[in-house]
Amino acid sequence: MTVFGPKGYKTTTHAQWQDAAKAWNDWGQVLNQWLGPATQTMLDMAGVTTGSHVLDVAAGAGEQSLSAAARIGPTGQVLATDISENILEFAAENARAEGYENLDTMVVDAEALDVAPASFDVAISRVGLIYFPDQMAALARIRTALKPGSRFAAMVLSTP
Ligand SMILES: C[S@@+](CC[C@H](N)C(=O)[O-])C[C@H]1O[C@@H](n2cnc3c(N)ncnc32)[C@H](O)[C@@H]1O
Repeated sequence: MTVFGPKGYKTTTHAQWQDAAKAWNDWGQVLNQWLGPATQTMLDMAGVTTGSHVLDVAAGAGEQSLSAAARIGPTGQVLATDISENILEFAAENARAEGYENLDTMVVDAEALDVAPASFDVAISRVGLIYFPDQMAALARIRTALKPGSRFAAMVLSTP
């Protein structure tokens, strides 16, 4: 009998996204056709606006991070975080290629997110939450990172 183990699952998830990083980035335009309108809704619901400091959890190749960076302008800042250094490097490269200087990256497991408390105006996560074996731990970390009264909006998979 195979028993689910969060540690093994995490190791496997990391390895899978290290391998899938290039493909996910290469398919970015198609993914954006599917996810673009919902992404804008997520940014609206989170309240991403000029000057916002945005925490992006499980940012991947950074498509939604760059959408946030476009909204917030040069007075804002996006921190794109992900467990996979390979996929996050695509986010950094994409930001450089598009001339965004308001986007930083941080390789970190969402369940161990370690940023200054109450330092973000907004948090977002696009199709990331399902990968966390301990979602409550990740959500608690996100909450700690947010200033009081700020919002977190996430896109999650559901039935059609
Ligand atoms: C489906 S991709 C979504 C990427 C991006 N948000 C997007 O929508 O294009 C899921 C991402 O979750 C990341 N991920 C999986 N487990 C994670 C964890 N424990 N902490 C942080 N990121 C994680 C993966 O590395 C991958 O980049």
